[in-house]
Amino acid sequence: MPAARYKRLVDAFAAEIRSGRLTSGTQLPTHRHLAEREGIAVVTATRVYAELEAMGLVSSEHGRGTFVRDQALPPGHGIDQRPLAADSVDLNFNYPALPGQVDLLRQVLRELAGSGDLESLLRYQPHGGRERDRAAVANHLLNRGLDTTPDSVVVVNGAQHGLTVVALAALRPGDLVAADAITYPGFKVIAEALRLELAPIPTTPTGPDLDALGRLCVERPVRAVYTMPTLHNPLGWVMDDGARRQLVAIARRHRLLLIEDAAYAYLAECPPPPLAATAPDVSVYVSGLSKNVATGLRVGFIAAPQARVPAIERAIRATAWNTPALTAAIATRWLEDGTVTRLEAEKRVDARLRQTIAGEILEPFRPLAHPNSYFTWVPLPANARADRIAATLATHGVAISTAEPFAITENPPQAIRLALGSTELGTLADALTTVRRTIEDDQYR
Ligand SMILES: Cc1ncc(COP(=O)(O)O)c(C=O)c1O
Repeated sequence: MPAARYKRLVDAFAAEIRSGRLTSGTQLPTHRHLAEREGIAVVTATRVYAELEAMGLVSSEHGRGTFVRDQALPPGHGIDQRPLAADSVDLNFNYPALPGQVDLLRQVLRELAGSGDLESLLRYQPHGGRERDRAAVANHLLNRGLDTTPDSVVVVNGAQHGLTVVALAALRPGDLVAADAITYPGFKVIAEALRLELAPIPTTPTGPDLDALGRLCVERPVRAVYTMPTLHNPLGWVMDDGARRQLVAIARRHRLLLIEDAAYAYLAECPPPPLAATAPDVSVYVSGLSKNVATGLRVGFIAAPQARVPAIERAIRATAWNTPALTAAIATRWLEDGTVTRLEAEKRVDARLRQTIAGEILEPFRPLAHPNSYFTWVPLPANARADRIAATLATHGVAISTAEPFAITENPPQAIRLALGSTELGTLADALTTVRRTIEDDQYR
């Protein structure tokens, strides 16, 4: 009977793959061939592959077929950060830091220890942050082209927390959110946890395909768009004025919320104003101090229409009560005394240098990247397999991400994403050369 036959086939494939008899990258028969070979219906063959895909054993690629996945990569690879061996090179997660930042931390801790304000740091804080912290953020946002007021700003535990509380405050389980087909993995995690449905917006090299978004909004009840107009992670685009206007028009026409993620926006020199500046009524702006200052600080911020602030504060209360006063106080000092602005300028130079090195080494693959950005997107040559390359590189002590964590479509492209900001400058070129050789070897396997 078909059910038993179907299960037996799934088990047989699973055993072959897990034992290594079917190696990663092996192309499996087409659905039709499998059906003919096994004397089953084509829909049953499709079900077999769907089940194997759900088990993480194969991946299907549009127009190419079904391939055995590399089993060496742990589930959650590229999404969940895990400790790496001390001698590994991390080209997977970005935590850009400059020499001298430890001294800055030592100095600010000393200053705080000597300040008269310590007692207050031991207490709960207002959910959205203290007045002084919110004012410092509002003032900083002027540099980003956003003229807002402290009561429209809230302080959160990093941009990831910011996105979470915005989603909690504005959306309900089952809501449909449009996001770029290739997007920041952290938003996928939020959508999964909050039971939001993600609808992919096709991407172009310069930004989302907004005509496709317009059609989607006519066909389906999109409630929000998650977007990175200024320095998209991972594709590096900065949307131009015209595209921003079109996006805002879609938001107004369909009464949907624009969730603008600006985590890397500081790297772009003189970008067009944020959506939140030109359309504050339909936008919520989320950013933070991870990529421009330090990921360990865990300080981020949101600028939102005032009417949305109480719901966002409620969501902060539900998730964290408040951002730790100690880290917020450090952030505020660095915002006020110009340290953040200075680090941003220095990191723009650092990122550009790293991007130049990456561009030269990976040039044969025509990577996609913003010239100032801390990451690069490398489309792979025909026959090269992203999961196999990631697994091989892991054995060389180099961690990278495949396209899969970034994709919200069923068939992620064969591409890898490299974070350039975490490794020491001295080891970056060697690691990238190892990546290039691994890709070159892989395409002939
Ligand atoms: C686009 C984007 N948004 C948000 C975040 C989260 O940043 P944070 O460390 O401030 O939570 C990241 C982190 O990599 C990111 O790349």
